[in-house]
Amino acid sequence: MLALRVPREKAEEARVLLSENQILDKHHRIRHSEDFVEIPVLEFPDHELLKKFARLNAVVIDERQYPWRETFKEPFRDILKCIQIPDDKKELLPTRWEQLGHVLIMKIDAGLDDWLEEIAGAYSEVLGAETVLRDVGGITGEYREPVLELVLGAETEATHVENGIKYRLDAARLMFSSGNVDERIRMASVCKNAEIVVDMFAGIGYFTLPMAVHSNLEKIFAYEINPLAHKYLIENLKLNRVEEVVETKLGNCTEAEEDVADRVVMGYVGTTHEFLPKAVRILRESGIIHYHETCPDRLMPDRPKGRIKQAAKTEGKTAEILNIKTIKSYAPGVSHVVVDARIE
Ligand SMILES: C[S@@+](CC[C@H](N)C(=O)[O-])C[C@H]1O[C@@H](n2cnc3c(N)ncnc32)[C@H](O)[C@@H]1O
Repeated sequence: MLALRVPREKAEEARVLLSENQILDKHHRIRHSEDFVEIPVLEFPDHELLKKFARLNAVVIDERQYPWRETFKEPFRDILKCIQIPDDKKELLPTRWEQLGHVLIMKIDAGLDDWLEEIAGAYSEVLGAETVLRDVGGITGEYREPVLELVLGAETEATHVENGIKYRLDAARLMFSSGNVDERIRMASVCKNAEIVVDMFAGIGYFTLPMAVHSNLEKIFAYEINPLAHKYLIENLKLNRVEEVVETKLGNCTEAEEDVADRVVMGYVGTTHEFLPKAVRILRESGIIHYHETCPDRLMPDRPKGRIKQAAKTEGKTAEILNIKTIKSYAPGVSHVVVDARIE
């Protein structure tokens, strides 16, 4: 497990820095030895933070496991303890939630409508949140917008930190799927040096940011049709100091320049297949497409593979399927999958 080893006298300073940067692992115990303190961390600190830790003579280590802190052993058990609602209603309480910085997002059963304030208060206290949004309609429309109601707090603009990257967004108006974390991490390492990448559905930078931060690219052209998502995309590029490598375009990716890219990312679901011929044309002579689709399990893997091959053929090219991976369950019997294909 990752931890920061810091001289005793600098431990509090380091702990505050970790907390401010949202990578302090509050769920595991800090370890004390004679001269040093080891503070569990959620992820490897970014470059800037590492420089600050170096000044404290602190180093990141990965040498041992740290025991759970009792109070955090089972957040749901703690929530149950401090919630004041009738016992027969407790089985309706949400056992899953999404947390983006200080904002909690969860489905709350209609049978709990009379206790919304108590419920939001208990969850936010135990989970360290300030705002609670109730998911009342999932993700909808071309912009993939969440349908949420404010239950507690006021500030819905949040910063989610993951894999050394800061994602800032208005959680009440834009989606962020924590279930796609593995794919965001994977995209951080698939690119080759000096590539040109086109992200056709950039959003706030779900894939553009990990690629820009963790790869050595010549350029990413990031298309986003929703002005609000585009505004946060620009803010996130600055926040992660990658404005130089990414050029954003507010508009439809169907307008993207063609014959320019080594790699195209299609992180969108629903009608993504309609954009496949365009993706093939955006590529230079040859290149890679990362194609996302929500596919009924009974049509896997033939439908997504077939759609890519067909689009390549339409454009006078061929497609070699390199990899197909399930990202998460999307609905009963339907999976969100990503296919990597080489187009030539
Ligand atoms: C929300 S992201 C998908 C999320 C991502 N797969 C994830 O969860 O990690 C998709 C983005 O594509 C944008 N979009 C949809 N159609 C588009 C188009 N034709 N051109 C450019 N952007 C588009 C939406 O506004 C949205 O911000």
